[in-house]
Amino acid sequence: MPLEIIRADITTLHVDAIVNAANETLLGGGGVDGAIHRAAGPQLLAECRTLGGCKTGEAKLTRGYHLPAKYVIHTVGPVWQGGGCGEEALLTAAYRNSLLLAEEHHCESVAFPLISAGVYGYPKAQAIRVAVNTISAFLTDHELRVLLVIFDRAAFQISEQLFAGVQAYIDQHYVDAHTDDRSLQLRRMERYAAAKRPAFDQAPSCCEEAAPYAAPFPGTCGQSAAEGSESDLQHLLQQLDEGFADMLFRKIDEKGMKDSDCYKRANVDRKLFSKIRSNPQYRPSKATALAFAVALELSPEETAELLQKAGYALSHASKFDVIVEYFILHRNYNIFEINEALFAFDQKLLGA
Ligand code: APR
Repeated sequence: MPLEIIRADITTLHVDAIVNAANETLLGGGGVDGAIHRAAGPQLLAECRTLGGCKTGEAKLTRGYHLPAKYVIHTVGPVWQGGGCGEEALLTAAYRNSLLLAEEHHCESVAFPLISAGVYGYPKAQAIRVAVNTISAFLTDHELRVLLVIFDRAAFQISEQLFAGVQAYIDQHYVDAHTDDRSLQLRRMERYAAAKRPAFDQAPSCCEEAAPYAAPFPGTCGQSAAEGSESDLQHLLQQLDEGFADMLFRKIDEKGMKDSDCYKRANVDRKLFSKIRSNPQYRPSKATALAFAVALELSPEETAELLQKAGYALSHASKFDVIVEYFILHRNYNIFEINEALFAFDQKLLGA
């Protein structure tokens, strides 16, 4: 998944580079800056002293020393002054210049804190939006794995207007209190199927007698149940419906999309996409199947069809499904916005 939003202490992450929300002196401070210097050890400060500071919106790189990360990219976000002093442009530049520096040093993975959202006072929901928009724009034409790290629940203030609609939809559709647990549902389904099925030893000699049970295919008449069932099976296997992969690639063609556009918009990495392309029987996870439905901007009906071909269905017993359904019904196919909402409601994210 090219962009993930996670809750973690950035100093613990095993990535190629972590980004430090520093100040222009680069001589350390509090917050994540202090945490990174403490974890990296005194050599980090010694190297920072040689850099001659860093302007707001720019980025400079050092080694990671005792950190699990190989590099630290020091960037300086803007101090929030109400939004009218170019703060958004400077914050965007801080993310973008850090990403470019990571790419310059052949990093394959980089982790960001929420720059400026602490001491510098940038409103958190806006800081997240700038981070997600800048990173996802960069990822449309760069191969990199990016983690946006939210340090603690308290830091992750969910702005009402951002998710109020989603919360209302969940309240209205999310069935949790009286949802049978899965095993009870499966037992019920098995009992129902058994009631519909003839007992094996009374199997009719040919399909006429089987009529009430709707013999699966014409032309099996006059054969024993055993013979009939074998040719039925062969017939069945010759008549497989269009599979998930077939529908996925048909929709990509119908939409006139490039493969790379589709998997990037689905927040799915290239390796997984190649696996699906090389194996028509490949069965994706539900989150991946839904991510492609979002990337292809499928209608609710087409989404249900694509999911069904992967063996899934949207369920109002799942908060994850209800949230994704909300965005599809509102024709909002921005997967990073959907992931922000999923993250805010403690759900796994869309994409591989
Ligand atoms: N891991 C991940 N995120 C963290 C960590 C951590 N260990 N510690 C803090 N954060 C988060 C905060 O919760 C906040 O959301 O990092 C975000 C940025 O907060 P600050 O560290 O305060 O950075 P910023 O708002 O950009 O202010 C920079 O603060 O520490 C000083 O020297 C720094 O002067 C500079 C100023």
